[in-house]
Amino acid sequence: MRRAEASAPGKIILFGEHFVVKGYRAIATSTSLRAKASVEEIRGPGIVIESENLKVRGSLNLNLEGNMPRELLVYVEILRALKERGFSLIPHRVKLKSYMPISAGLGSSASTSVAYALAYTALHGNPLKDRDLLEVSLEGEKVAHGKPSGIDNTIATLGGTIAYRRGEEPLKVEVNIPEGYTFLIADTGVKRSTREAVEHALKIAESIWKIASLIYEAADRIVEEALKALKTGDVKTLGSLMYVNHGLLNAIGVSHEKLDSIVDEARKSGALGAKLTGAGWGGCAIILAREPAIENIVERISKHAVTIEKARINVEGATIDYSSQ
Ligand code: MEV
Repeated sequence: MRRAEASAPGKIILFGEHFVVKGYRAIATSTSLRAKASVEEIRGPGIVIESENLKVRGSLNLNLEGNMPRELLVYVEILRALKERGFSLIPHRVKLKSYMPISAGLGSSASTSVAYALAYTALHGNPLKDRDLLEVSLEGEKVAHGKPSGIDNTIATLGGTIAYRRGEEPLKVEVNIPEGYTFLIADTGVKRSTREAVEHALKIAESIWKIASLIYEAADRIVEEALKALKTGDVKTLGSLMYVNHGLLNAIGVSHEKLDSIVDEARKSGALGAKLTGAGWGGCAIILAREPAIENIVERISKHAVTIEKARINVEGATIDYSSQ
């Protein structure tokens, strides 16, 4: 019986979330917290999909009919999109596992979809190339989010770091963070609706656009300066830009008291920078710190976070684990 395994990175938005919704730029990067899919051909009649994190499983026949929990419907769309591209549907079991906080703005559903599509097609001896992988995984995200910007799938597929503006091809960003500096990802554990946070921010911005337009312009200028700082490895500037970006996000109403506490404590305990990442109102904060300061920072922010993970950024995109075959 054939088997194949693949993984794909999660994403963090370094700068520009929410402002990106109105056409300004954002910077997103891949993280070493990945999602994995292990696909195994089985004798049984159909398809079994299991999510270790969500602790749910569902089964389908080879016409994609069956009993699938809502959280797993995105993967049915992946199979549908693969079938449309000529892949035969065979009886198999897929185990999905995400090593990043889920529903916390890190794009775990896109990473898992990319990993599944790559593992399934690798099992057929014909692994999808990047462009197809992107298109197939986007089909899944449409079910999960309605109108995905595509930023999560792009990072999960290609890895690296990108500058992103709505409606334009993402640009690859050069990153040269020196050794000895680390990003921490702190999950507040507070679940929120991305859609509602986005609508709230837009409402505030539009009601005071004369002022808010200056905030949006400032956020875009931050992206410009951050692109230079990432390239030259100027971590001090990068950190300062993160604190300012957090302040601007707070100004448009998408922070949360736990996120503000994490950012405050990080600043007091010597972090170079900290900000919320993603939609806000909960979810995760990111912190940039020198290695020796980490222990102290973790101790001080731990009362506001359910998990704190060390993560490398700018890592490789989706990969097949050939050792599993
Ligand atoms: C959510 O991860 C990022 C937002 O900017 C929404 C979006 O870009 O679609 C808040």
